Amino acid sequence: VDKVVDLIRHKVPLDEWPAEYFVVEDNIRRKDALLGNDLAPGDALRAMRGPAEMLEAIKASGLRGRGGAGFSTGQKWEFCRNAVGTGAHGAHYVVCNADEGEPGTFKDRVLLSAHADLVFEGMTVAAYVIGAKKGLVYLRGEYRYLLDKLNAVLEKRRADKLLGKSILGQTGFDFDIEVHLGAGAYICGEETALLESLEGHRGVPRKRPPFPVTSGYLGQPTAVNNVETLASAALIAAKGAAWYKSIGTAKSSGTKVLSISGDCARPGIYEYPYGVTVSQVLADCGAIDTQACQIAGASGLCIAPGEFGRRIAFEDIPTGGSFMIFDNTRDMFEVARNFVHFFVDESCGFCTPCRVGTTLLKNVMDKIHDGHGGEYDIGDAQRVIKTLKTASHCGLGQTAGNCVADTLQKFRPSYELRLTVREFEPAFDLDKALS
Ligand code: NAI
Ligand code: SF4
Repeated sequence: VDKVVDLIRHKVPLDEWPAEYFVVEDNIRRKDALLGNDLAPGDALRAMRGPAEMLEAIKASGLRGRGGAGFSTGQKWEFCRNAVGTGAHGAHYVVCNADEGEPGTFKDRVLLSAHADLVFEGMTVAAYVIGAKKGLVYLRGEYRYLLDKLNAVLEKRRADKLLGKSILGQTGFDFDIEVHLGAGAYICGEETALLESLEGHRGVPRKRPPFPVTSGYLGQPTAVNNVETLASAALIAAKGAAWYKSIGTAKSSGTKVLSISGDCARPGIYEYPYGVTVSQVLADCGAIDTQACQIAGASGLCIAPGEFGRRIAFEDIPTGGSFMIFDNTRDMFEVARNFVHFFVDESCGFCTPCRVGTTLLKNVMDKIHDGHGGEYDIGDAQRVIKTLKTASHCGLGQTAGNCVADTLQKFRPSYELRLTVREFEPAFDLDKALS
């Protein structure tokens, strides 16, 4: 850790870091945890007692989507199970969203590296519930190096009768999984852009509704779930809804895997029961002099020290897993400017408010950075953020301005110290003269 901290302090470029520094270890190994679980391949499948019963267990467990939005998994699977497929493709599909592109998020990479069986088992549980014969993993292009390993795990599961025809000898329980690679577009993590990409089209988000549960892959009912959601579903199948519900809070059952990065002594992957406070997380990873935490990625929430008593839970701060820490040596204006540049690069360009709006916001931030900004530019940024939020076609554009809005509200001095341009002061003030 000291060596890594030295590299950061001396601003050594990432491509000059030793390769072993990129390996992230599981920091938590408990038997009730997702990461330290003691399940053997097939345990979850052997524990299932029928699709309807399994669906009831998922509903009773309170499992919610781990991609960030927290939609009820039981409800999603129920909608999908009840939807009717059409035409030549008349079938249901399970899609695992492994296009983990949110800045600061790397927990799915660890789940797929160290617990691939659990993820595939969760996909098989989903298939059993909704009646799917085929599953697709959409793997982030940058995780290509995992492909051979994942295919080897799939091969082994086929050989062990945990995939393929008549799984565990049950006639009619047929299901298999393919892994598809993305090509490096952040927007393909949005579920409908992901489906477009899977079908071989440009990754542009579809209009919702209809939601993928009724019209997903090839227009068929599709359950699209995050890697961590599927792994959790496998644990619920094996250990029961009551066990799962006993962990976490009233509205957020189970655990959350966090990807912790930034200014702390022990960055990495941590797993907590929902309800943990931000200050507890900061203490555990050895963060000191923290001035801000960016939770839920570049489009997420930037919180200041007065809010560190808040909790990671759907009732308070929901997150797909990204937890970035900034100590008091960081310039929060520059953090926000960096995120805005990211959104300009990653906007898919389909709709004008986002394609143009992200660029306008970048221009304002660059102007302030270059020392040519005034109060008017702050107002301009706020107008662009409002347009992005209200007029963009999908979540990327709608949330692209959050980083500026949050830092403007909580770290305004970092903007103000850069404002050099005085507003125009009229020589003759009519209002003043009349009063
Ligand atoms: P959303 O709330 O629109 O939908 C969440 C899920 O519920 C989707 O699968 C959707 O199909 C389903 N759903 C919602 N309403 C439904 C209905 N009435 N009937 C059937 N299904 C329904 O959220 P969205 O736009 O899919 O995802 C946004 C989240 O993704 C944000 O919380 C953001 O933080 C997170 N995110 C995560 C990233 C990551 O790398 N994990 C990257 C970027 C964003
Ligand atoms: Fe594409 Fe941005 Fe429009 Fe979403 S909001 S469709 S990312 S241009």
